[in-house]
Amino acid sequence: MTDRLRIAINTGGGDAPGLNAVIYAVTMAAHRRGWEVYGIQSGYAGLLDTSKMAPLTPERVSGIVPYGGTILGTTNRGDPFHRPVPGVPGEFRDESGVIVENFRRLGFDVLVAVGGDGSLSIAHKLSQKGIPVVGVPKTIDNDLAGTLQTFGFDTAVSTATDALDKLGSTAASHERVMVVEVMGRYAGWIALNSGASGSADAILIPEVPFEIDKVCARIAENERHGKRWGIVVVAEGATPKGGAMVTRAPAADGRTEVILGGIAEQVAAEITRRTGKETRSLVLGHLQRGGSPTTFDRLLALRFGAAAIRLIAEGHRNVMVAFRPPEMVAVPIPDVISKTKKVPVDSDTILTCRDMGISFGD
Ligand code: F6P
Repeated sequence: MTDRLRIAINTGGGDAPGLNAVIYAVTMAAHRRGWEVYGIQSGYAGLLDTSKMAPLTPERVSGIVPYGGTILGTTNRGDPFHRPVPGVPGEFRDESGVIVENFRRLGFDVLVAVGGDGSLSIAHKLSQKGIPVVGVPKTIDNDLAGTLQTFGFDTAVSTATDALDKLGSTAASHERVMVVEVMGRYAGWIALNSGASGSADAILIPEVPFEIDKVCARIAENERHGKRWGIVVVAEGATPKGGAMVTRAPAADGRTEVILGGIAEQVAAEITRRTGKETRSLVLGHLQRGGSPTTFDRLLALRFGAAAIRLIAEGHRNVMVAFRPPEMVAVPIPDVISKTKKVPVDSDTILTCRDMGISFGD
């Protein structure tokens, strides 16, 4: 191993508050060791067209920690193993060889891949083609296996909880039920943590298929006790018992992933139909991905970035940094990809909600 390493770093998949803090920590920790860091633009695309690649120096990253988004840009359509062929709709080709060639030509030693399941799966495939990688897990959904928490999740939960607080006052004034859809894909972490913190009346998550009658019963109980308004938090992946997830038509952008969304509107319509209560639904959407990271997320992201460099210095390759409090540890990437970390239905937070009288529609 050379003493003076040359590190490449990219951010892939949907953005999450804290990405800039990871970039900052990687840059600072690497420079302290006398290493070089290069920022790859737009996920893996910046290793196909390397024209915008730029050195990351302490001066360049100074002041970026409080900012949401990523100074490197990102995309969730950037799989180099499955690139759309220009001018031939529906045709794809494998361009990963170009990445391997460019990585070697530019003299990089390790790629720090900051991303979710999709980006880490690509990182693993690149490692099999000879690119040494260290992954940093990222997603607001908190559904990545192997790590207790991902950065971005705490900020998303704070944003959702703040929205619930605000919606409570208007719901109470109008004696309405507000049905709020939050992100999370196939896991209910954001819905559960924001719903518990925001005193929701019902929380519907993918891990607990719901019965709309049970949700309505909870609303009726409110009325009996003189509370004439309510808040229902619905995870985008929540499903009625025996039903299916609500999906939207795929965007015409070459993405193969299912796009979730629309369940809140359906739940609100059913509540009105069955209880006669006036309801409104809203989808918090990408608000949850934006804004300045919370203090917790900043620190977690800084710890992920610094740990990535420490692991590289110790000789680790083809691993993901995992948060296993109180430590940051290395786990093999194949152990964590394609596994969804779901909310355990007997978790203490679920039990706490049940003790508070919050319904899961079960
Ligand atoms: O995985 C993060 C996430 O925000 C999910 O919660 C959501 O389903 C999805 O990404 C939205 O993706 P896009 O930004 O492509 O709309």
